[in-house]
Amino acid sequence: MISKKMQEAINAQINAEMWSAYLYLSMSMDAADKGLAGSAHWFAKQFSEEQEHAEKLAKYLQSQNAKVVLAPIAAVKTQWGSLKEMFADTLEHERKVTAMIHDLCKLAQDENDFATANMLQWFVNEQVDEEATAYGILEALKMIEGEKVGLYLLDQKLGAR
Ligand SMILES: [Fe+2]
Ligand SMILES: [Fe+2]
Repeated sequence: MISKKMQEAINAQINAEMWSAYLYLSMSMDAADKGLAGSAHWFAKQFSEEQEHAEKLAKYLQSQNAKVVLAPIAAVKTQWGSLKEMFADTLEHERKVTAMIHDLCKLAQDENDFATANMLQWFVNEQVDEEATAYGILEALKMIEGEKVGLYLLDQKLGAR
């Protein structure tokens, strides 16, 4: 049994994960439009992962006999100036998501909701990975800025995800 407040907070996080999925799908489409097939593939994988995050939270709510309520997904940006801009936005977004997950952890702690706190640990760890990955790719993009061969090779690497 979880509180009504916790139920609503997790439902809001499901919407945030679906918005993340939509954001990365949009980046995938823009990368494809820019001829960056590897990056488009990378963001398509990210799109799937974010949907899995939403499903994980939904299954948790159901296991606690709480209803999953799906809210509308807000519009996302559709065009970026460069791949570097996409990864800068990715890192900024993942940092925001980390803060959201931490807020959920705080709520679970305040409510002595040990089951939810335990479930959220997976997301805490996942956010460390998400931020590290986005940071690493952004740094690589800064390194190769202005070099077409570098961008070509990095795009191929991203395509191997
Ligand atoms: Fe996520
Ligand atoms: Fe994420």
